[in-house]
Amino acid sequence: MRVEVLANDDALSRRATEVVANLVRRRPAAVLGLPTGGTPVGFYRELVRSGVSFRQVWTFNLDEYVGLGRSHPQSYYAYMKRHLYDHVDLDPGRTHIPDGMALDWEAECRRYEALIRKAGGLDLVVLGLGHNGHIGFNEPGTPWNSRTRRVRLAEQTRQANARFFGSADLVPAEAITMGIGTILEARRILLLASGPAKASTVRRVLEGPPDTSVPATALQTHSDVTVLLDRPAAALLQMSDGRAST
Ligand code: PGA
Repeated sequence: MRVEVLANDDALSRRATEVVANLVRRRPAAVLGLPTGGTPVGFYRELVRSGVSFRQVWTFNLDEYVGLGRSHPQSYYAYMKRHLYDHVDLDPGRTHIPDGMALDWEAECRRYEALIRKAGGLDLVVLGLGHNGHIGFNEPGTPWNSRTRRVRLAEQTRQANARFFGSADLVPAEAITMGIGTILEARRILLLASGPAKASTVRRVLEGPPDTSVPATALQTHSDVTVLLDRPAAALLQMSDGRAST
């Protein structure tokens, strides 16, 4: 994994934008896997500011809460509309998020996997890092060959996301998420982590052994992963200064 330590969250967001914008300029019909949560907010702001055209780009979000419709303000559809869709020239027919209101969720998961395959697979997936090491909503213990499916959120995840809902009780208990196996099939992976609260998880992901109790350690098995950290997130690494490579 290549690790880059940036001065702060703004610099991290600009660097992530540079990676995505370069790909889209080179490959206008790129297929992107996209994250939600607190970490990528700056990334979307910079992506919009970059002025790059998304006219032919295909997007697949990592996950969606079960039971939240598109109009719910905390649905990931609403998040994407707020931070990206409303501000760039993406074709709505090429943007995808699992349907959290699907009645037949097994069919919905199969449909999602099939759409990714039909688009030619993910060129680049951008990931945030959960406090417990999750990627997408693949919580500790998730098998690395897992596919898109319905999952129960870890208590720690509901606590971490309570800030968006007002209380942990209001955070949906379940989600549909791409699997770790789905994510690992992407040709390139960009993992973002910022802030001191992620530092110990970052250390386990980069310097610990591969371990299903820390889902992001699965990324150690992928041949093209770039990890972007701000200084506080990198503070507990052995090589925490400047640009480092593992
Ligand atoms: P956060 O979440 O960016 O809101 O900290 C990251 C994640 O859970 O993937």
